[in-house]
Amino acid sequence: MPDPFRLAGPLLRRLDPETAHGIALRALELGLAGRARRRERPSLALRRFGLDFPNPLGLAAGFDKDARAPGRALELGFGFVEVGTVTPLPQAGNPRPRMFRLPEEGAAINRLGFNNAGAERMARRLARRRPAGVLGVNIGMNATAGDAPADYRAAFARLATLADYVTVNVSSPNTPGLRDLQAPDNLRPVLGALAREREVLALGGGPPLILKLSPDMADGDAVLAATLAADEGFDGLAISNTTVERPDALAGAARREVGGLSGRPLFRRSTGMLRAVFRAQGGRLPLIGVGGVDSAGAAYEKIKAGASLVQFYTALIYRGPRLVTAMLDGLERRLAEDGFESVEQAVGVEA
Ligand SMILES: Cc1cc2nc3c(=O)[nH]c(=O)nc-3n(C[C@H](O)[C@H](O)[C@H](O)COP(=O)(O)O)c2cc1C
Repeated sequence: MPDPFRLAGPLLRRLDPETAHGIALRALELGLAGRARRRERPSLALRRFGLDFPNPLGLAAGFDKDARAPGRALELGFGFVEVGTVTPLPQAGNPRPRMFRLPEEGAAINRLGFNNAGAERMARRLARRRPAGVLGVNIGMNATAGDAPADYRAAFARLATLADYVTVNVSSPNTPGLRDLQAPDNLRPVLGALAREREVLALGGGPPLILKLSPDMADGDAVLAATLAADEGFDGLAISNTTVERPDALAGAARREVGGLSGRPLFRRSTGMLRAVFRAQGGRLPLIGVGGVDSAGAAYEKIKAGASLVQFYTALIYRGPRLVTAMLDGLERRLAEDGFESVEQAVGVEA
């Protein structure tokens, strides 16, 4: 089948980024974005958090905030899909424009601010149609939340039985005060509330819990947060979210926009933080590497730095859905070249 993105991509990139995203998501929903030929890739399969992943490449949070097309995203070849961030109540997010491209950099800046239709709506959608494949749900708090732990608990309680894993997002830069929750004294009550809620819901079972961190915290603080998460019974970490930093050399007219920077300029920092956490905790918690992955080589670097799983979003804006199979092919080839029989063996070899 011809690649629909070869024609549609340049057209989409002439539109306002959020409008283009809406069209891309709708096309995905309608099955127009294509579908990977089903192929077993035994060297890429791995088991983490008690879940079987057919391959380690996942769609990062934020692309499908309301779980409109997770099944279709899996058909593109992704080994797992993370929907959200979803908050307990629906919320509109920040005024538009709030999403910007930096094409020279393969980057984007967004200050969406958790625009989403709320946990109830997502739960109904997933109850009706839960995709075959690994589905993560990423939860956050409403901008008006008075009691952060209670807000996270509410979103979790509504969605826990509908997700294969749940990611706790305390790292988006676009909800005032949200990232303050990463400080140990604030983090402990949030993680504790979720761990307790999981026990209540499922008598100690329930979905694995993943903590997603910001690349703007110091490595030492990330290690502290990781230890705290492990102590509270969390199952993994996602490193990282977008950054509010702007590298000096950043090109692109939009570079001064307020918001979180994603894409290629984020690769170094997010990979450095991933490596630091992997080293410090010796692989105790599996890590999801995310930030600036736009090729098989970049995904492989994350894995060698300590990622068991790898997610991406921004590269899809520039490369389209075919990137997924291209990356899977490239990853298989690289593993074989290095003499690894399984992706598992490459995790952390260069940490
Ligand atoms: C437009 C946009 C919206 C995003 N929304 C979310 C979100 O709702 N929740 C979240 O945890 N991360 C969100 N992210 C961050 C991504 O999940 C990912 O952590 C980050 O973009 C780095 O990966 P990338 O460089 O491959 O895009 C968003 C990213 C972008 C570009």
